[in-house]
Amino acid sequence: MSGDTAVRFAGIDLRNPILTASGTSGYGSEFAPFLDFDRIGGIVAKSLTLEPRQGNPPARIAEAPAGMLNAIGLENVGVDAFVTEKLPLLPPTLPVIASVFETEIDRYAEVCKRLSGVPQVAGLEVNASCPHVKSGGIEFGQRPSLLAELVRATRRAADAPLVVKLSPNVTDIAEMARVCEGEGADGIALINTLQALEIDLHTRRSVLRNGLGGLSGPAIRVVAQRMVWQASRAVSIPVCGIGGIQTGEDALKFLVCGATAVQVGTANYLDPQASQRIADETAALAARLGNPVLREWIGTLEFPGG
Ligand SMILES: Cc1cc2nc3c(=O)[nH]c(=O)nc-3n(C[C@H](O)[C@H](O)[C@H](O)COP(=O)(O)O)c2cc1C
Repeated sequence: MSGDTAVRFAGIDLRNPILTASGTSGYGSEFAPFLDFDRIGGIVAKSLTLEPRQGNPPARIAEAPAGMLNAIGLENVGVDAFVTEKLPLLPPTLPVIASVFETEIDRYAEVCKRLSGVPQVAGLEVNASCPHVKSGGIEFGQRPSLLAELVRATRRAADAPLVVKLSPNVTDIAEMARVCEGEGADGIALINTLQALEIDLHTRRSVLRNGLGGLSGPAIRVVAQRMVWQASRAVSIPVCGIGGIQTGEDALKFLVCGATAVQVGTANYLDPQASQRIADETAALAARLGNPVLREWIGTLEFPGG
């Protein structure tokens, strides 16, 4: 691996550690008019299910202090349309991580199988953490035994590097990270959105039709940093940090906490070029602070008590 910004995450070589987060950059091609794909590490596509899904009815996004709430309900085109219609629109040199979500373990495994052998899929991210679909992600990401079963089945079905995206809505994130490592995951990614509720006083209803939603954006960054630090200390597989990243400074902080790569989510809604700007800022800031080699920043947090 060469170059000051290059990192290797879960067996995937990235030109820099900045990826776009699932659900915030479509299937990648929507960003082609705005984004120079050669300036980011790669993309994580919208979570895919076996069949196409419509998602929840509106209102399904809302503002929150220093962030946003969403309850999209995993609208997506389905795995087969992704492979035949969406992937071919992306440059073959761009690392694309396909995100997988389902309601049953065997269906998760089937989605992974359909993504196997697809040359443009650099890796799979198993979304074990969706906080707003009643029969699905919340169960897997919150119960160690179910999570273990899920990782085992998807590991068996996948031929590409397997990353498990964890829910922050748990008591002990280190335990969940260890479960993933124990079942053969190549990496973990965290955090998904924090379960949240905002209300309209006039109607005394949730502002989201679904009721509960997931909080993302700058409001969650420091929580995410804490969890990345705890998870990365618990396992030896690499960690991808996600949560409220808006600047190169934020990204570099995640690397120091133990992340090998990071994902940019909500910031894409403010500026579709956010990820390439953050990639440039991260490299420039690291150089300014005395070490341009980004992989040498990983896990260098000095913490009282070790
Ligand atoms: C509108 C929206 C849709 C999302 N959809 C997905 C999804 O399909 N799959 C997934 O794993 N995460 C999804 N996420 C979570 C993000 O990938 C990310 O984990 C989270 O937003 C925290 O990062 P951020 O603060 O940078 O946005 C979504 C987030 C938002 C805001």
